[in-house]
Amino acid sequence: MMISLKNKKPSLGFRMFWYDTVTSTNDVLKQMAIAGEEEGAVVVAESQTKGRGRLARNWFSPMGQGLYVSILLRPRLVLRQTGILPILAAAAVARSIDRLYSVRPQIKWPNDILLRGRKLAGILCECQVKSASLFVILGIGINMHLQQEEFPADLRNHSISLKTVKEKQIDKHLLLQAILKDMNRLYPTINGESEKIIRQWLKYCGHLNCEVVVTQTDLQITGNFKGITKNGAALIELPTSEIITVENGEFSLQEKVKCY
Ligand code: BTN
Repeated sequence: MMISLKNKKPSLGFRMFWYDTVTSTNDVLKQMAIAGEEEGAVVVAESQTKGRGRLARNWFSPMGQGLYVSILLRPRLVLRQTGILPILAAAAVARSIDRLYSVRPQIKWPNDILLRGRKLAGILCECQVKSASLFVILGIGINMHLQQEEFPADLRNHSISLKTVKEKQIDKHLLLQAILKDMNRLYPTINGESEKIIRQWLKYCGHLNCEVVVTQTDLQITGNFKGITKNGAALIELPTSEIITVENGEFSLQEKVKCY
């Protein structure tokens, strides 16, 4: 029997590029993508001088203290559908941490990974359309070894690292391997079977059926979080019982979270 490999896509992580210091792994991989790099290429760095987070924030990326990684995707999706990709990454990160370290992280929509209510990891998804074809850079940052007092003052009370909750040595390679393995399992489901991704994401979601406040530039919406759509948008039930979809913004939970 002849097996055709013509349409077989290389797996995520089939080509890995390791650096000591870069500005941002997302920026390095973006340049590679523009130059034609194939789907699945991964850039990892020991430190970043201009690590970026969502909503124009910085990502604190000191030498050897975290996992700073970006993954190149060339999905068959239109821009509007790419919201499922950071959801996929968050689901894979949460499951990998749970399995490797037996601590159960919680996801805050869309893709903040929390432990004990503090930020452990984040995902920055950047899309670019070039010559009618779309590529996506999924950047993942995980705090690994930082002691609480080593975080900058403005992050100290909101951040946490794996080391704080797990005494044992955290192996970056093992963690990356686990994340890529899970992403490889989930990625083929983005076209038509994304319920699998959503189910795994919801398993780790810390605010399902809870009251949340969504803040957008000039708007605040309070409602009950009911889940996510296949494009990763949040489903919020308003006090009027109407359910709306929210595509971007930031969630906060009330001091005393009300869940139903
Ligand atoms: C967030 O704000 O929660 C997202 C943080 C994403 C940080 C990662 S670290 C690797 C990649 N390179 C960057 O510059 N940012 C992402």
